[in-house]
Amino acid sequence: MLGNEFNPIQIEIGGLDFNTRYEYQFILDKLKSAARGSFITKDLWQWRKPAPDFSFLTGSCAYFNEVVYDRPGKPYGGDPAIFESMAREPAAFMVWLGDNWYTREADYGSAWGLWYRASHDRAQPALRNFWKSMPQYAIWDDHDYGPDNSDGSYGLKDVSLEIFKRYWSNPSYGQDGKGIYSQISYGDVDVFLTDDRYFRSSDDLDDSVGGNPNPEKHFFGKKQLDWLEDALMQSSATFKIIAVGSQALNPLSREECLHNYSFEFHNLMQFLDRQKVRGVVFLTGDRHHSEIIKFERPGNYALYDVTTSPFTSGIAKVEGAEINNPYRVEGSLVQDRSYAKFIIAGKKNERVLTVEFHGLDGNKLISWSISEKQLTP
Ligand SMILES: [Fe+2]
Repeated sequence: MLGNEFNPIQIEIGGLDFNTRYEYQFILDKLKSAARGSFITKDLWQWRKPAPDFSFLTGSCAYFNEVVYDRPGKPYGGDPAIFESMAREPAAFMVWLGDNWYTREADYGSAWGLWYRASHDRAQPALRNFWKSMPQYAIWDDHDYGPDNSDGSYGLKDVSLEIFKRYWSNPSYGQDGKGIYSQISYGDVDVFLTDDRYFRSSDDLDDSVGGNPNPEKHFFGKKQLDWLEDALMQSSATFKIIAVGSQALNPLSREECLHNYSFEFHNLMQFLDRQKVRGVVFLTGDRHHSEIIKFERPGNYALYDVTTSPFTSGIAKVEGAEINNPYRVEGSLVQDRSYAKFIIAGKKNERVLTVEFHGLDGNKLISWSISEKQLTP
């Protein structure tokens, strides 16, 4: 069967105790492998003690050079040592925000090519310590789903979906075998892992029809949007983080952005307003720079879109109207390779979310905080 030659193996373990460190070692045909490691299970804190203080890592856009398939000229991929810096962070888990690998022209035309790219990039030596250091969750964006700016029309999207499920270990993947959307929880934080590709309409489809938002122009698609809204209603988390592959709230973006899909954008914004959903923060990637966008809402708390990018792929300096983007939190722009660290801490009812952007060596570049009270309608 196609894909067997790559054959990533997943092992599910049940019946573990909470808040316990487990060590593991692989034994293959009675031979002990040198590969070993350890992990700590989540605590069972609910109804027993305060929500734990913790941190998690996140970021997007990992490009590993492979000369034969790369565009000629200066290599697009930068120093993968950033993943060694991340491996040293004592974080609870990692959320990959998409473009986690980059399929090339020679990859996305065939199923074999898609498997090859995932397999090649996942085996990078620079990533090994990081894989072992913490649980790894993910969403995808265009490049690890298909071609640049690809949408729901991509013919091999179900192959990409299968590869995604085989190389990641999210708790679930979409509904009815379609899409990758899911949810993870840690402490008093829920992260909603959305799929901005599988159901997406073309970026170039008219955004308005007869002066109204075009209801046929999908970003999440109706079923996923219904799921997201239901899941937000179900959530009692202090911070509800909506992770999206491409940017969400930047009105000045000329790149891909949820804001440019007016029908579903307004639907989601009206829902958040109407239902007075508290604690919402957007977490996005793709842009090849990092920044925090503030989106004011009359009569409600301002929403923030934390964009973190890239790990190793090229840097895209902001241009035109975005250079002095009035929606950007002052001092939050990073035009360098980086990752983000989210720190959640504080007493009950006084929980604070701190976002730090870190550079290649793990050096802290920027720190920004928001309290749960500031995210209350
Ligand atoms: Fe992207």
